[in-house]
Amino acid sequence: MSDAQARRVQEQFGASAAAYVTSRLHAAGEDLDRLLAWGAARRPDRVLDVATGGGHTALAFAGVARRVVAYDLTEPMLVAARGHVRARGAANVEFVAGDAGDLPFRDESFDVVTCRTAAHHFADVPAAVRQIHRILRAGGSLLLQDILGHDDADANAFILEVEKRRDPSHVRSYRATEWKAFLRAAGLTVMEDSVIWKLREWNEWTGRMRMTAEARRALDDFVRRAPERCRAAFQFQLTPDAIVSFNDRQVLIRADRD
Ligand SMILES: C[S@@+](CC[C@H](N)C(=O)[O-])C[C@H]1O[C@@H](n2cnc3c(N)ncnc32)[C@H](O)[C@@H]1O
Repeated sequence: MSDAQARRVQEQFGASAAAYVTSRLHAAGEDLDRLLAWGAARRPDRVLDVATGGGHTALAFAGVARRVVAYDLTEPMLVAARGHVRARGAANVEFVAGDAGDLPFRDESFDVVTCRTAAHHFADVPAAVRQIHRILRAGGSLLLQDILGHDDADANAFILEVEKRRDPSHVRSYRATEWKAFLRAAGLTVMEDSVIWKLREWNEWTGRMRMTAEARRALDDFVRRAPERCRAAFQFQLTPDAIVSFNDRQVLIRADRD
């Protein structure tokens, strides 16, 4: 990936590592339950969690796999994740630093790869998917969850601006058809997929990325001035004084290596 994008990710997440460990939205949820149910059914020996963040997915999979590797670009995030996972008593998780587009693992060395709430930060998603395909064994599964791109161009442009103002390391989210094309091109076959909604509580969501008061005011203003139909596409809840929350759709995919 470009050095500039790597720097943006490391700046954003390095300073917010503790907040990702304590984030309720990351610690649990229907999305994590679904990924875990898909993964447990595969009875995996080795699992790689790409872009592990606070380590929540790695920790969940530590209960169903013999060995988990938690992988992330941001070293302070890995330190926070290690502290969190060890404090929860999981001794079978190892922590490795690096980029999703350049996985330092042998071909066909994992049964399952997880990647949750992270791919929208990757500079080159097709490259990451090709790497994941390379290190999965035949019949192994990628279990993916990420923000779903919106089919309406205006709604998509609106939420992209919101996301980038809150977190400059956000690159973009992809529509289901785009994900399926990336996966197919890499040699992965979609076996199961679904879409769920995830509620974002505005103060928590903007606060986790430590926006300045000025940037936050400008973002609130941008949301208030946006066309009603763009806000409605994400179920924004506003009072006269405050933005309360919005909802976005998350795509969940299980794709197997042929
Ligand atoms: C929202 S957090 C991930 C949440 C986590 N997967 C979970 O289930 O709680 C996003 C993480 O992606 C990592 N990241 C972003 N770009 C990356 C890349 N190219 N390679 C590896 N990790 C990356 C960031 O450092 C950050 O820790």
